[in-house]
Amino acid sequence: MFLAALVLMNPPALQYSETYRPQFHFTAPKGWLNDPNGLVYYRGKYHLFYQHNPFGTEWGNMTWGHATSADLIHWQNLPNALAPDQLGTVFSGSAVVDWKNTCGLGTESDPPMVMLYTAAGGTNEESKGKRFSQCLAYTTDGETFHKLPANPVLPHIEGENRDPKVVWHEPTKSWIMALYLDGDRFGIFRSSDLRKWTPAGNVTIPGSSECPDLFEIPVDGESKVKKWVLSSASGRYLVGSFDGYEFKPEQEALPGAFGPNDYAAQTFSDEPKGRRIQISWMRGGKYPDMPFNQQMSVPRELHLIRSNNKLRLAALPVRELQLLRTNKVAFTRAESTAFGQPRSNLLEIRAKVSTNSPSKIRVGRLELRCEPGKLIVGNLGSVDYLSDRSDIDLTLYIDRTSIEVFMDRGLVQFAACYLPTEAAPEIVVTGAKELTAWELKSAWTK
Ligand code: FRU
Repeated sequence: MFLAALVLMNPPALQYSETYRPQFHFTAPKGWLNDPNGLVYYRGKYHLFYQHNPFGTEWGNMTWGHATSADLIHWQNLPNALAPDQLGTVFSGSAVVDWKNTCGLGTESDPPMVMLYTAAGGTNEESKGKRFSQCLAYTTDGETFHKLPANPVLPHIEGENRDPKVVWHEPTKSWIMALYLDGDRFGIFRSSDLRKWTPAGNVTIPGSSECPDLFEIPVDGESKVKKWVLSSASGRYLVGSFDGYEFKPEQEALPGAFGPNDYAAQTFSDEPKGRRIQISWMRGGKYPDMPFNQQMSVPRELHLIRSNNKLRLAALPVRELQLLRTNKVAFTRAESTAFGQPRSNLLEIRAKVSTNSPSKIRVGRLELRCEPGKLIVGNLGSVDYLSDRSDIDLTLYIDRTSIEVFMDRGLVQFAACYLPTEAAPEIVVTGAKELTAWELKSAWTK
């Protein structure tokens, strides 16, 4: 009796230890997960909301799941934040801290966090016959969420318009919403209070749809030069100028995600150190007999780098991931062939390789081959080098069911899911210039 009461009061902590449970890529405790939503830093914590099916491991019943973290690595799962209602299930969207309380739903001394999301009308019984519209929810404590009774704040415009991304535009002191419209068109809307929105213009990202992100970012090494980036779910992005009304691309759309499992990336709003940190959904992968399905990428910090006459987004894993390092695996003869046998299948590997002469890094059965012109990641895919440098850096993060590769200052980022077969894969290196590897600990062990 006493024991039962104790168990009820203190439910056992989730172990996150199942065979195919990623150990430092975020997964829902149970059920399906897709896009990251509402990434924001609020009241001392990073908030990760996500597209979630609480009732099954396949897509459906879209709800915003919720987790928070002080360091972007160790997450605490919280109750779901937004559930379906008579306007529809809850599709993707974003969140901002409304510092000046422009929406009037908090106070300036206690600013609200405001979430803009798509109510996907017609996707549940209660919303039969309704169209997709954009809605507002808010919180003043980061834990309890209130939908605006007057929702939607932006009625249906066309097609399956969705995925509002909201940012503050300081020069015009306005809120801006980038919204996916239809085809490869995205709309720009403006608001002074996050509640009334007026259209300002359209932008096309050729061949792209869904989940826009919009942000300003400095150009690396060029003091005071800043550009605006508008990206889409596939990772394709435009770089240009934005005056609060019109986004003017200054170069053609470029691909931003190179691996087979990288989709719907979003960046954090209000990041306290001013970094532009992105998380994507590692769409796909297999998780046989697991209570969850799908995983997020590791958080990565974006940069804008001038390379071969283009401004390119580059992404590097956030430095907080180093919190997971344990043993350093020694390599003494990296110039020729070196062997290391880690005791873990959670690994970080950093190397320097040449883009002119071949090198290989084999981790268990997965072999990465740097060949002249391109990197081949086992049978998971390959990617061309984007710069003409002869020596480049390579960082690998290997989790239980995925690998992420960051190359050449992050110009190439390659995210792929796979089912590894070894508990402690041997590492064999041929031809790399330098190599260091760390065993990592799980983000779910205290
Ligand atoms: C992208 C997407 C979004 C939509 C959500 C629904 O993966 O299709 O456009 O809001 O997923 O789960």
